[in-house]
Amino acid sequence: MLSKYDPSNNSVSHFSANACLAPLCSMHGMAVTTVEGIGSIKNGLHPVQERIAKSHGSQCGFCTPGIVMSMYTLLRNNPKPTRSDMESAFEGNLCRCTGYRPILDGFKTFTKEYCAMGEKCCRNSTSATTNGLVNGQVNGEDGAMQNGISTELFTPSEFLPLDSTQDPIFPPELKTHQFDQQSLIFKGERSTWYRPTTLSELIDLKSTYPDAKLVVGNTEIGVEIKLKNMKYPVMIASTHVPELNQIRCHNDGVTFGASVTLTQIDETLKQIFQKEEEYKVRMYKAVVEMLRWFAGHQIRNVAAVAGNIITASPISDLNPLFLAAGAKLNVISKGNYYHTASPISDLNPLFLAAGAKLNVISKGNYYHTASPISDLNPLFLAAGAKLNVISKGGERSIVMDDNFFLGYRKTAVKPDEVVVSITLPFTQQDEYFGGYKQANRREDDIAIVNSGIRVLFEPNSNVVKEMALAFGGMAITTVMATKAMKNAIGRNWEEDLIQDMAGWLVEDLPLPSGAPGGMAAFRKTLCTSFFFKFYLMVQLELQSKHPCMVKSKVPSSYKSATPTFHREPSKSTQVYEEVAPSQPDLDPLGRPISHLSSSKQASGEAIYVDDMPRFENELHLALVTSSKAHAKIVNIDASEALKMPGVVDFVCHKDVPGENHWGSVMPDEEMFASKEVTCQGQVIGAVIADTQVHAQRAAKCVNIQYEPLEQIITIQDAIAKNSFYSISKTIKKGDPAAVFSKADHVIEGEMSMGGQEHFYLETHATIALPKNEDGEMELFASTQNPTETQMVVAEALGVDCNKIVCRVKRMGGGFGGKETRSVVISVPVAVAANKHKVPVRCMLDRDEDMVISGTRHPFFAKYKVGFTKEGKILAMDCDLYSNCGNTLDLSAAVMERALFHCENAYLIPNLRVTGFLCKTNIPSNTAFRGFGGPQGMMVAETMMEQVATMINIPPHQVREMNLYKENDLTHYNQCLTDCNLRRCWQECMEKSNYSARRKDVDIFNSENRWKKRGISIVPTKFGISYTLKLLNQAGALIMVYRDGSVLLTHGGTEMGQGLHTKMIQVASRTLKVPASKIHISETSTNTVPNTSATAASCSSDLNGMAVMYACQTILQRLEPIIRENPKGSWEDWVKAAYAARISLSTTGFYKTPDIGYNFETNTGNPFNYFSYGVACSEVEIDCLTGDHQVLRTDIVMDVGVSINPAIDIGQIEGGFIQGYGLMMLELQKVSPDGFLFTRGPGNYKIPGFGDIPVEFNVSLLKGSVNKRAVYSSKAIGEPPLFLSASVYFAAKDAISSARSDAGLDGYFQLKSPATPERIRMACQDQFTELFPDAEPGTYKPWFVQL
Ligand SMILES: Cc1cc2nc3c(=O)[nH]c(=O)nc-3n(C[C@H](O)[C@H](O)[C@H](O)COP(=O)(O)OP(=O)(O)OC[C@H]3O[C@@H](n4cnc5c(N)ncnc54)[C@H](O)[C@@H]3O)c2cc1C
Ligand code: FES
Repeated sequence: MLSKYDPSNNSVSHFSANACLAPLCSMHGMAVTTVEGIGSIKNGLHPVQERIAKSHGSQCGFCTPGIVMSMYTLLRNNPKPTRSDMESAFEGNLCRCTGYRPILDGFKTFTKEYCAMGEKCCRNSTSATTNGLVNGQVNGEDGAMQNGISTELFTPSEFLPLDSTQDPIFPPELKTHQFDQQSLIFKGERSTWYRPTTLSELIDLKSTYPDAKLVVGNTEIGVEIKLKNMKYPVMIASTHVPELNQIRCHNDGVTFGASVTLTQIDETLKQIFQKEEEYKVRMYKAVVEMLRWFAGHQIRNVAAVAGNIITASPISDLNPLFLAAGAKLNVISKGNYYHTASPISDLNPLFLAAGAKLNVISKGNYYHTASPISDLNPLFLAAGAKLNVISKGGERSIVMDDNFFLGYRKTAVKPDEVVVSITLPFTQQDEYFGGYKQANRREDDIAIVNSGIRVLFEPNSNVVKEMALAFGGMAITTVMATKAMKNAIGRNWEEDLIQDMAGWLVEDLPLPSGAPGGMAAFRKTLCTSFFFKFYLMVQLELQSKHPCMVKSKVPSSYKSATPTFHREPSKSTQVYEEVAPSQPDLDPLGRPISHLSSSKQASGEAIYVDDMPRFENELHLALVTSSKAHAKIVNIDASEALKMPGVVDFVCHKDVPGENHWGSVMPDEEMFASKEVTCQGQVIGAVIADTQVHAQRAAKCVNIQYEPLEQIITIQDAIAKNSFYSISKTIKKGDPAAVFSKADHVIEGEMSMGGQEHFYLETHATIALPKNEDGEMELFASTQNPTETQMVVAEALGVDCNKIVCRVKRMGGGFGGKETRSVVISVPVAVAANKHKVPVRCMLDRDEDMVISGTRHPFFAKYKVGFTKEGKILAMDCDLYSNCGNTLDLSAAVMERALFHCENAYLIPNLRVTGFLCKTNIPSNTAFRGFGGPQGMMVAETMMEQVATMINIPPHQVREMNLYKENDLTHYNQCLTDCNLRRCWQECMEKSNYSARRKDVDIFNSENRWKKRGISIVPTKFGISYTLKLLNQAGALIMVYRDGSVLLTHGGTEMGQGLHTKMIQVASRTLKVPASKIHISETSTNTVPNTSATAASCSSDLNGMAVMYACQTILQRLEPIIRENPKGSWEDWVKAAYAARISLSTTGFYKTPDIGYNFETNTGNPFNYFSYGVACSEVEIDCLTGDHQVLRTDIVMDVGVSINPAIDIGQIEGGFIQGYGLMMLELQKVSPDGFLFTRGPGNYKIPGFGDIPVEFNVSLLKGSVNKRAVYSSKAIGEPPLFLSASVYFAAKDAISSARSDAGLDGYFQLKSPATPERIRMACQDQFTELFPDAEPGTYKPWFVQL
């Protein structure tokens, strides 16, 4: 949070900003408050920190400080915000773990609407509400209260009150104007920063350094320097020039100084709405609406209007509006040119020749130079003479029109000119204005296409007098559709204009199929859709004002087409079974206790790898990676890099003393590529230097020459070129081929699903600490797999494993991405540390991480299914293809899980499925939550939908009819016992009120043509165990100290999923000591050896049993002591045991019994048991833009007896939202040459706060027990992820309705993720028809489906 003193009204303003984009020089005179400044464990947490921790809003904790500071800043400005204010405050924050619901739930206690009575509040007067809750109470079938059910995961009454008197004060020494009045110069290593405080100083500087960048928010320049490698030797901060900060309302409109921030513009325009007549502010309303979707608060608080204009991005959100409005810029330079009137001045040449000093009248009518006692001016003024003046600062006004943008990132503003202000005109009585934007994600995303549209009618008519149509995202600049604008003049605002306009826009906005950015047909369709929305909006206005004038009335079913989605504040319920009243208070098992690190995470005190203090002589490492997808390495030249400041060395394969090859299953991967690269992002070498910045700069200067080789990027390429890893497996049960010939129906289909970037908030990081003795080395790594890190580093260094220790305190998220791929970073760090015998550190930047580390496997499937006329599935035959990338990594195991899950939750008596592993030239794909399961299940669900469409039965009926039941055999012949699937289904049907809502959806769809709703209910069954039998083992080490405290270690790592918290709960119950006595410090290879990766959802099961056994051993040893002194305390017993020389430390070990599967014979059990769940989601789509909103989701999940309901519900919600990203949002864009475009949050969109279901209800199935895991619990990490398919199929259901209105019935394919492009283009209509997709092969696409 930044705080600034404003002497004009003696007030302090607070605002949030992105630290990574805020230059230190720009902080002069401001107070900076970080999360550490508002509270701490020692001095007490701030209420914001406390509430996020206690409401379970912090899992891995890496996002938590940012979210805390957004909330804190909001409260500093507005101690009682509304729910909407609160949700809006997080537009610029991301969390990959929680699914956001718990954060909002904790913070809603600060809002105006919050009542301590919760759902029982008198304002919630309606009876039957949601999710089976009546006024927040759970009722049984007979309406009686059910015992033992709770809906509270935390207790708000325990929260500290918010007391603003306790907030840190603004430093009194900063309460002065003097810091703002100082002109400053900062000189840095690569650039000089000037901060002038007057306009003349600014234009002098700009005249001296015409290439200098003016900086206000730095949100554009900062990104260019950091990510585009731009160098700006001179930067001029124009933040403190008064003229550039003025806001002036006048008769023609409002004039904003160029440095006025977007937040200030938003606030000012909203005030003007109150004062001015409705018609005058129509353009301003479009600006405010656009700003709602423009970045997040952190950006809008600092970014200025001129920055957006001058950056001239083709997808700027404001420029289309400014062009359509004809906004006026006032620019100034030092240039000597004539200011007004004709250049044929009589006097000026004389004055110039004489070097006369001239008093001039400036535009603002004040004396510009020298003394006010002018001799000539009074005469000239009296005579009304027209004067040509030479301006000291040449000032001119530029109308933003079709001539404003001169080329890519070029405007009519000259290099030595400074924009002083922009004037936004009022709209007139007969003038209408609309602003439109479609992005991949609604909040905080850049536009795919945006638009500003204005029409002016002849007075009191619907005849177009003027028309302005400006579009972003359709060319290299913001463009105006000039022909369409001209053609529209004189036309009546009637229906026939729509189709004509569509034709004109096609001509005005040509976009070739392979245009940069891709999605050409979609982008062209959007332009027409935007106009159509505008047409409807204006027509509805005209219709209400001049009913007789309008011939083509807007049908009522079209009315909902115009508004954009604006969500209501979220609501949610969480229902779980309470512990039995007889359970001792000290026994934490089954209680929703908070993640044990959550307070530290909220206060910023939790330590991640890169938070560790620097070691002496430490060096930083930056990786040098391949820029080619497939090529021979001809030469590596690091000479330039080695000359750069701070650089110590370049390391490569020659520096690996041991083995340069590795691989989890097959050693097919080089640590450092030596002769050939097989993907972009493959590690070739590394630069080590004194700082991270020096290492990164030098790494970019290592020159590598390549000889290109043929590349294979997509699954389709691999199939065409027969490029597969040789391990392909088949599961076959029964005889599908024979059954097809007897089935009522047999159909064929395909399923296509994209990959997914892990986007853990903490990127890969390792510190290697050589011990300089016996080859020992200690590694601090952000890894889910300490043992593999230890083993691979030992092999690379040529030492035994007992010399290498890998330690993991916590990770800022993993999700499978740190199961094997962390080695790619750890080994180079270890090799460099070994070579130089100094500590070496590396934490990847986001773009580096995304390019290097691989993703979820994209999948493609072809299937054939035979079924009865009622919809009962008889047989399935399926080939699955996954895009594995350049090395095998875990791809074979991922495919196995897909094979095991391709029937999802359905009994299919005859089934053959084969998996093919496509070998391609993209970075090796790897484990990701679900591990192939979701991709397999997606085949089954796609099939169910196709079957339902074929026989015209609702999909939920086909699903229900085929659901597994108790004792059914899967296609791999595992018998399902304690199968709760149908219970989950039934409960979800009831809680979601599916049948009634299905009818409501149908009614809505019959009444709305351009907005459609869909609803879908989808089950999941997830097999729990590693499919590789040997991994199903775990160890624990327990040490009881003489004071009774317990130090526990086990094989699992903490990545936010709450594993350590659950393990302490298990230990606490077993030992019968309070959880507060038990501590887990870290996971390390020198305490528990040979651990399996923390993965496959079974870490609580495996480690939990090992912990339980270890605790039982200790208890057995204490038994005689306890018998002797049964009333003694734990501490008494421990002391006595020590005195009796009883060992107080022990290990525990567990291996899962009765598992192991044989593909050859299709026998044995691959899984220990199954987790079940069902979700129902309802979605609304905008058929014209492809936008969507999840209206409601209900989940019923079987977690057995929950060890910790808060953690389990957190996993369900977090997994669901991550899966929602997979199904609906997260599109990887890779060029046909294997270049990854989506390498950061700017263009790869994970779900944000605004994407969660507006209503989100989660219930844990009651009365489920599981004999096969610790204390009857069930695994929960991965199983819920696939439930997000309910959103995808609900969207598909909505699309079906739109297609049906357009006369298209029958089955259609929809690729996942169902992005706006895919939704829009699937809703075929008269507009999409105008833009048929070009034939594949006739052009080079900009990005390809992997
Ligand atoms: C996370 C993120 C999200 C974003 N989201 C969006 C979005 O949704 N929509 C969108 O349109 N943009 C978006 N942007 C882009 C950016 O925020 C805007 O373009 C912003 O308005 C730039 O303003 P600034 O003050 O930060 O510019 P700066 O980076 O400070 O400057 C940008 C350019 O403007 C020039 N300039 C600044 N002032 C003047 C002046 N007075 N006269 C002449 N030249 C001047 C500078 O020389 C420089 O070339 C986003 C950026 C980020 C980092
Ligand atoms: S808790 Fe938010 S990213 Fe992990």
